[in-house]
Amino acid sequence: MPTLRPVALVTGSTSGIGAAIARRLSNEGFALVLHSRSSVAVGQALAAELGDAIYVQADLANEPDRERLVQEAIAAWGRLDVLVNNAGISQVIAHADLAAATPAVWHALHEVNVVAPFRLVALAESALRAAAQPGHPACVVNISSHAGVRPKGASIPYAASKAALNHMTRLLALSLAPDIRVNAVAPGLVDTPLTAGWTQAQQLWKERAPMQRAARPEDIAQAVAMLVASHYLTGEILMSDGGLNLT
Ligand SMILES: NC(=O)c1ccc[n+]([C@@H]2O[C@H](COP(=O)([O-])OP(=O)(O)OC[C@H]3O[C@@H](n4cnc5c(N)ncnc54)[C@H](OP(=O)(O)O)[C@@H]3O)[C@@H](O)[C@H]2O)c1
Repeated sequence: MPTLRPVALVTGSTSGIGAAIARRLSNEGFALVLHSRSSVAVGQALAAELGDAIYVQADLANEPDRERLVQEAIAAWGRLDVLVNNAGISQVIAHADLAAATPAVWHALHEVNVVAPFRLVALAESALRAAAQPGHPACVVNISSHAGVRPKGASIPYAASKAALNHMTRLLALSLAPDIRVNAVAPGLVDTPLTAGWTQAQQLWKERAPMQRAARPEDIAQAVAMLVASHYLTGEILMSDGGLNLT
């Protein structure tokens, strides 16, 4: 069903940060493609609630699902203006426990956090270019992490995967300009199901972050919306950690 609205695909949009980004872009007039790995009922309910939104299930750890996701997204609305690579996985492993960071952990995190975002951009490139207009490029926003900038985070494989995503963001920004802008938001701690039990990190943000709290998903959605609306910005990694990196 072709639409005159701009269209955004937000991966991992049934929960936490992704759901907040989807709500925000919907409020700003985008038609949405919502997506997740297994939370189908939640995705369908959110699509019904937002209106001008469809839901597609796809496991981003596997290539045929990535291809189907992009095909179904483009087929649904007939265009694609914005891709938000939000879906990601984490694993908590003490940084000094090298044995626990097995090759299987490295491969699993790399596949979803690095290979999948790259492949989605590659698969969506022609549709994004087609949506671009002079002075109004199409846009990719990757959700990385402050752990990809500072030597911190849930585990070394997680932090390294987000550092790779940040570098990929800059490389793609160079390769795809001027038709497609590519930026990243690098959140610090955000209150989502992923971090529900992370009491030490919650304490750290309350005590040390200049803003004295973790982010809400809506804070990150606001940063994403700002990057989407900023037609001149590309290759930026926008830290959104309440200033903790300054301390
Ligand atoms: N929360 C934080 O403090 C924080 C900080 C920095 C960066 N981030 C990053 O922000 C992003 C979102 O985090 P969040 O806390 O909102 O996570 P979340 O609440 O756990 O939600 C993750 C979303 O991604 C989907 N997903 C996970 N693996 C997938 C896969 N293999 N294929 C397809 N979809 C998949 C999930 O779908 P299902 O539920 O159906 O599995 C869900 O919709 C991630 O990239 C994360 O690394 C989070």
